[in-house]
Parts: sequence; structure tokens; C-alpha cells
Amino acid sequence: MFTDKIKFTHVESVISSGFEVLVADLALRDKVAYRAARKNMQIHSAIILHINDEFSGFMTFQVNHEAKEYCLLQSAMELDRKDKEVYSKMVGEIIKLNTFGYPMIMTCSTKHDLERPSVFEAIGFTTYLNLSGFAYMVYGTPDQVRMKRLAHATMTNVWTTTRSDWLKMKKEWNDKLEAAGEKYEIPNPKFASRDGCWQGNNGYSNVIGTSHKVKDGVIETIKGKSFNGNASVLDPVACEVILRFFMPTKGKRIYNPFGGGVQFGFVAGSYGYEYIASEIRQNQCDANNILCQDLNSAKWIKSDSSTYEPDGMFDLCFMCPPYYKVEKYIDYNDEIPEGELNNMATYEQFRDSLFEGYKNAIDHLNDNSFFVVMTGDSRDKNGAYYGSEAEHELFFKEQGLHIYNKIVYLECEFTRLAHAKRTLDYRKFPKREQKILVFYKGDMKKIKESYPPIGRL
Ligand SMILES: C[S@@+](CC[C@H](N)C(=O)[O-])C[C@H]1O[C@@H](n2cnc3c(N)ncnc32)[C@H](O)[C@@H]1O
Repeated sequence: MFTDKIKFTHVESVISSGFEVLVADLALRDKVAYRAARKNMQIHSAIILHINDEFSGFMTFQVNHEAKEYCLLQSAMELDRKDKEVYSKMVGEIIKLNTFGYPMIMTCSTKHDLERPSVFEAIGFTTYLNLSGFAYMVYGTPDQVRMKRLAHATMTNVWTTTRSDWLKMKKEWNDKLEAAGEKYEIPNPKFASRDGCWQGNNGYSNVIGTSHKVKDGVIETIKGKSFNGNASVLDPVACEVILRFFMPTKGKRIYNPFGGGVQFGFVAGSYGYEYIASEIRQNQCDANNILCQDLNSAKWIKSDSSTYEPDGMFDLCFMCPPYYKVEKYIDYNDEIPEGELNNMATYEQFRDSLFEGYKNAIDHLNDNSFFVVMTGDSRDKNGAYYGSEAEHELFFKEQGLHIYNKIVYLECEFTRLAHAKRTLDYRKFPKREQKILVFYKGDMKKIKESYPPIGRL
């Protein structure tokens, strides 16, 4: 093979290059590369391989200047002339053409003999995701394909948060939070200030964390120890997805009227955005501001969002407000601040004050921007849902926003059997989801041009 004469020809488009039939014929015989016979694939560029002046292979690719990426598409070599080294040189020809510094992406099936992960790894590609027998690879840096990874983790409007890549990314964020906690001596930083939080009988520790022992002939109940008091804290991966998907390309500022835990500010600040949150508890503001001091652009301000006026305009609003009576929010000295939503006597008072907070935020949201609310319904003392989610949709519609996405956020199920044993006789299905309701203020036709393209998945 080494004495053979190897030549590569670059064609801008397979169609009209004179190679279209040769490419289609080889693609069909190769089987894995069969899609290169299709017209909608032949519109793309290719490197054509000649061995001893004979057509011997091809690799098609697409240069996407909008998404700023090179996508390697299909490749094949004549069945009797397959050679890893020559094949790698063909890929190298495409790398040489990429003078833009774009990431080059490639999806490899482990079934192919040439187009396989090990061959691309030897060329300098790395795998950023393994999914259903395919390796998603990049010649570039991990941050250049982070958005694709997030898109694969979500993909539809049901976000299953227990899959392996989701958990991997979550661990990365949590490790960073732990490091900030250690550096600034904030114990348990993911749950800081939420020790007194309460979830009644539904909390993990109360349901399956309780154990018993017999001592001196008496049965003792040992309450499940929960280091976080069962607090609901935001999932940093959900925060990252929301940030990356709903922040406009030119966006800089985020407002959260119900600040809560550190997660969203930490993620937004890590990306260099300015994050302002109104949070009614001083202890939560203090812990978060200490944890995020190195990021310099994430701030929690002690205030009641139903009356607080944030400075200036924002490019994204995101919040996870209280779900009525699901948790108790306690400040220093075990005090519940005046105006804290979950302390309102009735659901109607809670809802009206919550919606005042939203109204103030909507007024400070730029046109053509998203308003994202993570919410969940809760039940009244008789067991009926309040209908809070439905009221959200109607409220935002009345405010002139569009209901744009209704995302189901699915949590793990580990306490659900214990719940179901108690509730199914009453025909109540234990709740395993929360909603992420995405509203849009402005002209929906502008979305494609104002938000960054995802590129090829
Ligand atoms: C459900 S928590 C946020 C939950 C979120 N998942 C997290 O990570 O903490 C809602 C937050 O809203 C705060 N809050 C309650 N009433 C408020 C009000 N009127 N203005 C601003 N914040 C308020 C509570 O103190 C709590 O920290």
C-alpha cells in the first residue's frame, strides 16, 4: 500500500463534482455509509480519495458557519483497499481545511471498521458522549460541545434527571460547589441555610430513613437523619440547560425573584453572566453571597420580591418559587420573615403575592426574552390539588406572554413505593414530577435569530 500513489481532491459539493455516482455506489456497497447516496447528503462537501488514479473512497462533511462547526458526515473506502492509515490521512485533509478554528464533530458507530472511535481517537478526537452504540466525538475542546451534551441530556420536554450523563454533569457542578464551601467554610454548601426546611411525612428521612432498635426490652425509633432537612434544592444541570437554552446570544443579565439555593447563581456566575436574586431570608443571601464571591457577578439581595424593584432590565428571568406549604423557610434566630410566601394563611394570599413578584420581574424583562418558572402543584388539607400550575399558565397569558414550553422534570423514584403504599388506597398517585414552564415575552419569530444555534446533534 505504501508504494501506491495517494491523492485527495476536495469538492465543495458532491453534486456536480462528477463523483456523485461513484460516491453513491460505494456508499451503498459499504452499507454503514449508505446515507451518502442521498441527494440531501450529496449537497455537502467531500474529500475524494484516489489510489493509483482510481476512485477509492470519500468522506463527506459540512461546514456550518452559523453554528461555527465542521461536521464530518459519511465515509467509506473501496472494500478491497481499506487501510486505516490512508483513511486517517483523508480525515487529516478535512482538518487542514478547517482554518476557522471550529470544533469538528463526528458520530461514530462501533460497527464500522474504519469509521470507529479508536481510529478517530488516534487522530486527536475525544468522545464527549456514548449513547446507544454511538460515540459522539469532537476534535476541539469539551466546552465547544457542551451545548450538544445538554441537548442530548434533555432532547424532549421530559427531562429524566437520573440518566448517567446527567448525573455525571451534576457531580461536576456539585464538586465545584463543595470546593467553594470548603474554601469559605460554609458547611454543606448545596443545602446551606436550609437545615430547618420541612417536608412533613414525605421527606426521605421520614419515609425510608427511619430505623428501630430494641434496647432494654423497649423498641426505640431512630428518626432518619437528614443532613439537609429534606430541602428541595435546584438541580445545577437543569439550571445550566435553562441558562444555555434560554439566554439570548447577546444576553448578559438574569433576574430571579425567588432566589433560594445557590445553584442557579453559581452556574450563571460561572458562565460570567450577571445574576441578581431577590431572596427574603438573610441567612440564605449571606451563605450564597459568600459561596459565589469569586464569581463576582452573582448577588442575592434580601428583599420581598412582591415589592422589590430590581435595577435595570434583564435578558432572562428564572426562578423556582415556593410550592405552597411544601417547605418552611426560616431565617436567622428561627424566624420566618414577614412576607415569606409559604407562611401566608391561605393559598389565595400566597398566589397573589407570588404573582406580584412575577409582575415586577416581567416589567424588568427585555422584549424577546424568556421567563422560566420551575413549579409544582401541592395539595390542600383535604387532598385536592390547588391548581397552581394551571393558574400560572393563565396568569402569564393574561400578562401578554406566550406559553412556550411545558417541561416535565422527572425525579428519582426512591421513596415512591413507600409513598404509594400510603396513598394509592385514596387513589392518589405519588408525585414524581415538577414542571418547568417556559413563557416568552415578545415576537416568537425572532427566537431563531436571537438565540445561539445548537448545530448538529
Ligand atoms: C422553593 S425555594 C427555592 C427553591 C429552590 N429550588 C432552591 O434551590 O432553593 C423558594 C425561595 O423563595 C424564598 N421566598 C419566599 N417568599 C419570598 C418573597 N416574598 N420574596 C423573595 N423570596 C421569597 C424562600 O425563602 C426560598 O428560599
